[in-house]
Amino acid sequence: MSKIVFITGATSGFGRAAATKFANEGWALVITGRREERLKTLADELSKLVPVHYQTMDVRDKNQVIAAVDALPEAFKNITCLINNAGLALAPEPSQSVDLDDWHTMIDTNVKGLVSVTHALLPTLIKVGNGTSIINVGSIAGSWPYPGSHVYGATKAFVKQFSYNLRCDLQGTGVRVTDLAPGIAETEFTLVRTKGDQAASDALYQGTRALEAQDIANTMFYVATLPDHININRMEVMPTDQAWSSFAIHRQ
Ligand SMILES: NC(=O)c1ccc[n+]([C@@H]2O[C@H](COP(=O)([O-])OP(=O)(O)OC[C@H]3O[C@@H](n4cnc5c(N)ncnc54)[C@H](OP(=O)(O)O)[C@@H]3O)[C@@H](O)[C@H]2O)c1
Repeated sequence: MSKIVFITGATSGFGRAAATKFANEGWALVITGRREERLKTLADELSKLVPVHYQTMDVRDKNQVIAAVDALPEAFKNITCLINNAGLALAPEPSQSVDLDDWHTMIDTNVKGLVSVTHALLPTLIKVGNGTSIINVGSIAGSWPYPGSHVYGATKAFVKQFSYNLRCDLQGTGVRVTDLAPGIAETEFTLVRTKGDQAASDALYQGTRALEAQDIANTMFYVATLPDHININRMEVMPTDQAWSSFAIHRQ
């Protein structure tokens, strides 16, 4: 039986690239996201290679998540790898200028959504056992502070600690957990963060070589296909052109 990957946020960026990578490697796919048209187009394309099941699902709605997992067709039930990728940043301005709803949306998606999907699929992953993986997409923002990261970075710090804590509970089950933390990558991420400001998105990526979605998809596939006895706890991946900077000092 072929291996099955369940991907959240497969309509764009890392998630869509992961769907293509895993399909090219012969894995069956469960692809999810809110935008049905995109899911359908991707499913039409990749089902020429492997079995594909697509399901619209807003990770913020735990009932939708539970229903989507319950409704998995028999052939797609035995998930081998869960990629908790759906997520977003909003409000790049300072905390004191942010709309509270934007903070709540990030928590509802990046924290509560990721937790709901994990909870729904844990029994399956434990049943399938050795060689299964949960790949949680964190961010360098979960470790390194920067202006305008506020709740986004805090949600990714949650993803990191939740991943580590899951490992403690899952020891002995064969289920592996990884916090995969990318640096700057060119996807629709900045377009979403700026609420559709294409010029701001283009400016961020201009003149540098950011990560590409398939770089992270390849990393996901590497993590998911390591020998059963190896668990990557956390993997931080930056483009060569990105590094840290000095502390900011306010002067009178
Ligand atoms: N790009 C970067 O620089 C970067 C760096 C580090 C970490 N990350 C993380 O990488 C992950 C993927 O981001 P990306 O860069 O690939 O951005 P992207 O191109 O904007 O893709 C985000 C995906 O998340 C899905 N999503 C958002 N809210 C959702 C919801 N409520 N329910 C279900 N799906 C939802 C979107 O699908 P729908 O809109 O169709 O629902 C979309 O498929 C995120 O967790 C992000 O925080 C990105």
